[in-house]
Amino acid sequence: MSKKPIILGIESSCDETAAAVVKDDNKVPKILSNVVSSQVDIHKEFGGVVPELAARAHLEKIDLITKKALKESGLKLKDIDAVAVTAGPGLVVCLTVGLSFGKSLAMSLGKPFIAVNHLEGHALSPKLISEIKYPYLLLLISGGHTQFLNVIGLGKYKRLGTTIDDALGEAFDKTAKLINIDFPGGPKIEKYAQLGDCKKFNLPKPIINRGGCNFSFAGLKTAVLRISHNIKTKKDKYDLAASFQKTIEDILYIKTKIALREFKKNNKSKKNNFVIAGGVASNKSIRNMFNNLCNEENFKPVFPPIELCSDNAAMIAMVGIEKYKKKKFDPLNYPVKPRWQLDESASFMKGSGLKF
Ligand code: KG4
Ligand code: ZN
Repeated sequence: MSKKPIILGIESSCDETAAAVVKDDNKVPKILSNVVSSQVDIHKEFGGVVPELAARAHLEKIDLITKKALKESGLKLKDIDAVAVTAGPGLVVCLTVGLSFGKSLAMSLGKPFIAVNHLEGHALSPKLISEIKYPYLLLLISGGHTQFLNVIGLGKYKRLGTTIDDALGEAFDKTAKLINIDFPGGPKIEKYAQLGDCKKFNLPKPIINRGGCNFSFAGLKTAVLRISHNIKTKKDKYDLAASFQKTIEDILYIKTKIALREFKKNNKSKKNNFVIAGGVASNKSIRNMFNNLCNEENFKPVFPPIELCSDNAAMIAMVGIEKYKKKKFDPLNYPVKPRWQLDESASFMKGSGLKF
């Protein structure tokens, strides 16, 4: 049997500098190390990610993080079979740092270079914890992305729905900012919500009865903005957080039901897998709702562990393993692709307005 590849993964698409070493194994690959350096403290005072500051932080950290990942894996650079690096989508100045670093490393080692789509990393992240067969349905809900994808196979995706404006994590962060919660506010909104009355504020559910399983969150943000002017007490904040959290759950429930049924139409397996990934998937109340919905629709819910749900390099190495096994290597002049979509036939939806 041929040797199981060992891949060094590198990720720098947004505000996390990450490196990981993952070794292929019989059923589920082994994560030998998974190091993530978050820049939350750098961007906190600006209420969002500042690209130039993010790029500078990547530049300062990427070699140290990679060294740490190697040290923790107990391996040496010479043991690595290929270097897999995020090439897009993301912030161009941030992607450039990881990509240049990864290419130089691959070149100096004389090992293959593999360009990875960050979204494909999220899509394959459940394969790092359990054996999961293609096809499966994925909902990616992060700070930058909100999409349903039919994961047909490596490099084969069909997008079923996406957002036409804000990403779901962005909606959480913007709501949090309006009630003076530091960036990224998603986790704190979840905590506040547990203390509030979810019926206190009636918030809109944009395009809830049209647009298939596409989302829109911009109108929700405007409603939260209006209410936030009259927020006076801590209790008001808790109530607004609870109302927001409940509205999001209702939207996700309705839109996901549509996506599950659409997926089922083309996949007649007895029980299909539904993977929920991205930072927002760590929200426990959202997880509960998905568990109930999957019960109703006869799907198996799969939640990658929280450290693999948010941005990391183990998921990039995971894609590296699958590409390595198919000898899908890339040239060293591979470009940065800030808008790289997984389903390249899908239209660009952001800012397209309500045309449904
Ligand atoms: O996947 P991720 O770590 O990074 C990318 O955006 O790629 O996702 C970060 C997003 C942020 O918007 C953050 O507020 C949100 O995920 N988030 C949450 C929770 N934990 C993180 N949103 C709601 N509830 C949470 N518990
Ligand atoms: Zn991500």
